[in-house]
Amino acid sequence: MAATDWIRPEIQALQAYAVPDATGLIKLDAMENPYPWPATLKTAWADRLRQVALNRYPDPHAAEVETAVRHTFGIPADSAILFGNGSDEIIQMIALALASPGHCLLSVEPGFVMYRMIALSCGLDYVGVPLRSDDFALDRDALLTAIAQHQPAVIFLACPNNPTGNLFAADDIAAVLRAAPGLVVIDEAYAPFTATSHLPQLGQYANLVVMRTVSKMGLAGLRLGFLAGPADWLDNINKMRLPYNINSLTQTSAVFALQHHAVFCAQAAQICAERTRLSIALTALPGITVYPSDANFVLIRTPPQQAARWFNHLQQNGILIKRLHGTHPALHDCLRLTIGTPEENDAVLQVLQTMH
Ligand SMILES: Cc1ncc(COP(=O)(O)O)c(C=O)c1O
Repeated sequence: MAATDWIRPEIQALQAYAVPDATGLIKLDAMENPYPWPATLKTAWADRLRQVALNRYPDPHAAEVETAVRHTFGIPADSAILFGNGSDEIIQMIALALASPGHCLLSVEPGFVMYRMIALSCGLDYVGVPLRSDDFALDRDALLTAIAQHQPAVIFLACPNNPTGNLFAADDIAAVLRAAPGLVVIDEAYAPFTATSHLPQLGQYANLVVMRTVSKMGLAGLRLGFLAGPADWLDNINKMRLPYNINSLTQTSAVFALQHHAVFCAQAAQICAERTRLSIALTALPGITVYPSDANFVLIRTPPQQAARWFNHLQQNGILIKRLHGTHPALHDCLRLTIGTPEENDAVLQVLQTMH
């Protein structure tokens, strides 16, 4: 008896999500905030953690986290809220709730790879609609045609988009919301680095939900994401949530961190300033295209056939970035660099400026 006799063919066809080993390297591959907490904050946080009763199960509703999140991010009072062990888990809960023969999850490409992977693993079909190849904007006609044809149970749009970094035009998103027969998830994972948000639009559309994470603002290790939107959707998606999915240490840490949200906002502002500086400096390299970004990373296109060489050269010099070349036809010669500290960004520039 072999595993292949039993594992579903679509699971066998998937590749597990790969995380490269970054030991000893400057880690600019995963959109993490590079700044640690000030020492005083760490001490106060440790004091809080000492009081956590690890012998007890966590609050199943994460009520204190909910109060803090509603207050910090201004979630409309009439919107429901649902927490996940990272927003990845929320994508999975949505897919599990909507999976049914003939149902599909629709998103855009190049986009966040987990939408496809989670859809297929949960038994939902997946449809990827290409973005415009010149500027990675939504191709409204292609999207509306695909929506009419496939009648997706759910549409995911990351705004800003990963790995391209751009926002989508508000009127294109509104057209999708009007045309969608099912749920529309606006994934705002990169919200700390842009002024644009769809949270204020909650309640204006019966099928709009907004997904956020605390990962990119500087709490990737906590694994906490949330979904806000109409109760009729969230109450049902919540049935897919495993009991106690948000552990006690995460709940206590998140409440503490959100009491110090200003620290993270200041760090995000530094990251945005570095994004501008790095983008301008990269633009000066011969033959490079630097795409505009509203996130904490930049997408670049190297001169033809150079992506592997640049990636390897950076790695040999102790810097890990994300190689996108080969992952999607629209990402030919592309690399993605997470914005680091000024010193880390200087190290990137120094390696790239001296390799010609
Ligand atoms: C667009 C997008 N959504 C969701 C996630 C997942 O975030 P989390 O750490 O909350 O699982 C990522 C992570 O890279 C992302 O890029």
